Order: sequence, then structure tokens, then C-alpha cells
Amino acid sequence: MVLYFSATGNTEYVAKELAKLLEDESLDLLNRIRDKDYTGIHSDKTFVICAPVYVCEMPKFMAEYLKKVELTGNREVYFIFTSGGYTGIGGVLAKGIIRKKGMIFKGYTEFKMPRNYIANNTYPELPIEEIENRIVNVSQKIPQIAEYIKNGERIKYRYVWLFEKIITIPFNPVWIKIRQQVKPFYVNDKCMSCGKCEKVCPLKAISFEDGKPVWNGTNCAHCMSCIQNCPVEAIEYGNITQEKRRYLLKKYMYVLK
Ligand SMILES: Cc1cc2nc3c(=O)[nH]c(=O)nc-3n(C[C@H](O)[C@H](O)[C@H](O)COP(=O)(O)O)c2cc1C
Ligand code: SF4
Ligand code: SF4
Repeated sequence: MVLYFSATGNTEYVAKELAKLLEDESLDLLNRIRDKDYTGIHSDKTFVICAPVYVCEMPKFMAEYLKKVELTGNREVYFIFTSGGYTGIGGVLAKGIIRKKGMIFKGYTEFKMPRNYIANNTYPELPIEEIENRIVNVSQKIPQIAEYIKNGERIKYRYVWLFEKIITIPFNPVWIKIRQQVKPFYVNDKCMSCGKCEKVCPLKAISFEDGKPVWNGTNCAHCMSCIQNCPVEAIEYGNITQEKRRYLLKKYMYVLK
């Protein structure tokens, strides 16, 4: 079974394509994560877990979910990351979680996809051609990875250097504390109170006051699902997102037709 979480469609696309090629099911974990529903998941086929990379790791809420949920049946697990190009220690941490569950880690790979972190101004916006190229490249790599999984082969993964661990392990919590604030989120007059932002939030960090969304406390992973999925682009993050293009993979799927 292919399990995934996806905020803007990159991971969902890879997960569903893999499931198709493996003639297996895919399961979106959004509602289970939202509801803290740790009902066991059974699969006779290999587990394939697909996640985006957040600050050089897998999303913390996904790691927490995976630690708690019972996976029964097949004992082998492959990990698939989608990222903007750097997975950091994601694979190392995934391996630790899987081994702790008494399961067999069969390796991981990374698909370099368009970066969706719109509330971060460290990187310039990608040109459309680069977005298109990344999607096409990924579509060409998926069958090769599906073949490895089908044949039960280990996926070879790159060595993670000690210095990467030394830099990344403290960098992640510092970034989260300083840069992942909810306060800058706001809605403008375009908001039509449809409720979609609330429904797509994996952490239930959005509630409604007078028909408009408000972001609560510290419980937000900056996954970008709310801001990117708003149908009328009514959500902004301080002055970082104004004038910035919103990203959802489905807007670019024309390149694969
Ligand atoms: C909070 C956050 C942190 C991110 N950190 C990284 C990172 O460290 N390295 C990287 O290559 N991409 C990073 N990205 C980009 C995403 O991993 C990438 O766009 C991913 O494919 C999004 O998947 P999705 O569309 O399934 O949500 C980050 C995105 C977000 C929202
Ligand atoms: S998704 Fe957009 S339009 Fe809908 S309630 Fe949220 S902010 Fe308003
Ligand atoms: S509030 Fe928005 S960015 Fe934060 S976790 Fe929820 S959907 Fe993601």
C-alpha cells in the first residue's frame, strides 16, 4: 500500500503513479493525521510511504503519526520524498522510525519537484519552464523506482555526511521556532468563506470567526496547504506572498499530456 501526505499535489502525484504501476492502493493520510486517528493499516504488499521534505526532514506531524500507527501485514517499507532538491536527513530519520517499528527499511529516494514553500523568501520563484522540466523529469523517473519496488530490490541512497547531521539536526527546530510563525497569515477581501483552507489543514490550525479564517496559536507546520489551495488566492503571509504565484501541481499537469 502506498501511504502519503501532500499539501500541494507533488507527493500525491508520485504516490498515485507508483500505486498505479504497482497495481496497489494509495491512501491519503490527511484525515487520519488531522483526527489523530491511529487505527492500524494492513497491507499484504510492501508499504511505500511518500512525504514532502520540510526543513531537511520529513514533516514532524507525519513522523509523529508514523511512530504511532500500527502497520500490519507486509514488513517491508520503502520511503519516497518529494522536495525542492535537498532531502537532508529525511532518509536517516525515516530509517530510524521504520526500524523502531520492527520493520525492514528498503531504502529511499528523492524526487526533485517544484518548491511550494511560498511563505519563505530564501529562494526566488522558479521560472515556469523549470517547473515544467522538473515535472517531466519526475514522471520519467517514477517507472524506474516502481520497478525496484516490484522486484523487492533495495533502493540505494546517498550517504548522509556527519557534518550534514551536525548542521541539520539543530537547524530544523531553530527554523521552526523563528520562521514558522502563524501570526503573519491573514485573509483579504477576496475570501468567500468557503472553508476549504480549514479542511485541508493537517493540524486543525485554522478556525472561523465571523465567517473568516483565523490562524491559532503555534500549531502550524507551514505546509502551505491553506494558502496554496485557496480558490480565490485570498490568503497572504505578511508581505512575503503578495504578487507571488500560487503553486498546485495540478495547474501544470498539461505538460504530461
Ligand atoms: C515548510 C516547508 C519546508 C520545506 N523544506 C524543504 C527543504 O528543506 N528542502 C527541499 O528541497 N524542499 C523543501 N520544501 C519544498 C517541498 O518539500 C516540496 O515542494 C514538496 O514537493 C512539496 O510536496 P507536496 O506538494 O506534496 O506538498 C519545503 C516546503 C515547505 C512547505
Ligand atoms: S479557502 Fe480562501 S476563500 Fe475559502 S475560506 Fe479559506 S481564505 Fe476564504
Ligand atoms: S495553517 Fe496552513 S500552513 Fe499551517 S499547517 Fe494548516 S494548512 Fe498548513
